[in-house]
Amino acid sequence: MLELVGLSRQFGDVVALDDVSFSVPEGEIVGFVGPNGAGKTTAMRIVLGVLAPDRGEVRWRGRTVDFQTRRRFGYMPEERGLYPKMRVLDQLVYLARLHGLDRDTARRQGERTAELLGIAERARDRTETLSLGNQQRVQLAAALVHRPDALVLDEPFGGLDPVGVDVLSGVLRGQAESGVPVVFSSHQLELVERLCDSIVLIHRGRVVAAGRIDQLRASDSRRLVRIEVGAPNALWLDRLPGVRVVERFPDGGVVELDDGVREGDVLDGARSAGEIRHFSVVRRTLSEIFREVVGS
Ligand SMILES: Nc1ncnc2c1ncn2[C@@H]1O[C@H](COP(=O)(O)OP(=O)(O)O)[C@@H](O)[C@H]1O
Ligand SMILES: [Mg+2]
Repeated sequence: MLELVGLSRQFGDVVALDDVSFSVPEGEIVGFVGPNGAGKTTAMRIVLGVLAPDRGEVRWRGRTVDFQTRRRFGYMPEERGLYPKMRVLDQLVYLARLHGLDRDTARRQGERTAELLGIAERARDRTETLSLGNQQRVQLAAALVHRPDALVLDEPFGGLDPVGVDVLSGVLRGQAESGVPVVFSSHQLELVERLCDSIVLIHRGRVVAAGRIDQLRASDSRRLVRIEVGAPNALWLDRLPGVRVVERFPDGGVVELDDGVREGDVLDGARSAGEIRHFSVVRRTLSEIFREVVGS
């Protein structure tokens, strides 16, 4: 398990991180989300030792991390750092060597990782001749080439086309399945929702929500139901007893149930208006949780 324990960091008057703690268990994908300037990059830099915290520490399997443990981490920094003139494979092999792999293993891993990210055909080309999306894949290969113990990726999906997103999603799942803890930051909340086991939501340097996505959704005290009915007009919606309309569609809408009202009562009410075309309990999306917590 990778643990961030009570991390705090200021830049002059700016409090970038204020007592941030969370952990990334082996085999899990944790989404690190929050608005711009929330402190995600700062936290990840501290995990990798690029930056020192004012307070707090980072632990790997219960021990404070040092150079040797960090060398076994895979990191994709916000500021992308590739050697543009170097050929893709040479670059990967070079980076693997920096992480301590011997020449043969580095070579093998370089080829394997290029294959994994779908850039094997470009392996002999200079990095700068690749499209930005493919350079991004090289960047990801660079984070993976030494078979890291843990993965820390800062906005890895930024700049990827849908195919690239699928490739990376598959790669991260594969890494997690093989027992690697994975944490990545992202603005793409739907993607985070699909891919992650749990999330950490950070706002103004503080963790404001964290946990498994289904539990975060369940913490919503509102009960919402989406109903669509084949009826000449939508007046029936406003006549349903015990609910408040929160959203309208042509054939219905989303209603919030008053205390003590059962879904079945609402269904009965809707049935008397016409043929039910849709009836479902609405769960909060991650975007809604995000907006509520961040207050925008
Ligand atoms: N090197 C730095 N010098 C001064 N301020 C910084 C520095 N790095 C980050 N900050 C500030 O710290 C806050 C958190 O930034 P950052 O960690 O980059 O957020 P995020 O990655 O979530 O967008 C921001 O207010 C940012 O301006
Ligand atoms: Mg950032």
